[in-house]
Amino acid sequence: MAAQIHETPENIKERLKASYDAMASTYNEWTIPHSKQRLEYLEKALEYLGQSTKPEKLAFLELGCGCGLPITKKLLSYPEAKVTANDLSETQIALARENLIQGPEDEVAQRLELIQGDMNGLDFPDGSLDLVVGFYSIIHLPRSEQTTLLGRIAKWLKPGGYFVANFSKEESESAVMEKWLDDDKGWMFWSAWGKEKTLGQMKDAGFDVVIAETADDVVDDSSFLWVVAKR
Ligand SMILES: C[S@@+](CC[C@H](N)C(=O)[O-])C[C@H]1O[C@@H](n2cnc3c(N)ncnc32)[C@H](O)[C@@H]1O
Repeated sequence: MAAQIHETPENIKERLKASYDAMASTYNEWTIPHSKQRLEYLEKALEYLGQSTKPEKLAFLELGCGCGLPITKKLLSYPEAKVTANDLSETQIALARENLIQGPEDEVAQRLELIQGDMNGLDFPDGSLDLVVGFYSIIHLPRSEQTTLLGRIAKWLKPGGYFVANFSKEESESAVMEKWLDDDKGWMFWSAWGKEKTLGQMKDAGFDVVIAETADDVVDDSSFLWVVAKR
């Protein structure tokens, strides 16, 4: 169980990076077998997108892509798609490169850009993206940053573009675990506005929320809000 605290800890990004750098493999082995739910929501968003856009020259962005399996790989299965995948952790980005690009001749190398760093440091021209994905990643930002990011994502998307993500269902200023998945390296931080405020902020940012469902997590004792939203 995560400790609920009222102050946001210092150096969150550095500490999260250190944790994911150190325990990327542990996390990936734990989570990849339980990817069905993530894939289902991604497929719903792609289906909606297919109804509003021509499937050519698509621009996809994934925030907190982890090791790229299976979500970034699914995005790359669209042969015309240019995919930008970002993660704070150097280890995760290195694993994603290994998992997604099969050597220098692989055509994927031409249309996949892997960016290591804080998702809140990213920038894209207004109206340039077709789909933005953030599974189990935006939840690691302090919630004031989540609000700012929602506004930025809305600007980056083309009209008719989609955003698919999950957020913690319950409101929490700052939830910390010292030993999440790993007794030595598992310091972890999450934050959330909760279902109603997250949805309200999405509407304020200019999204039309087409799916908002809550579900208990398949492996954890947490509950998530899953959203698909149209710009
Ligand atoms: C729980 S994992 C989720 C990974 C993948 N999306 C998945 O569904 O398995 C969270 C990921 O978000 C990344 N992350 C955490 N904070 C981030 C930030 N501020 N910017 C970019 N990535 C971040 C972590 O390094 C980690 O790989």
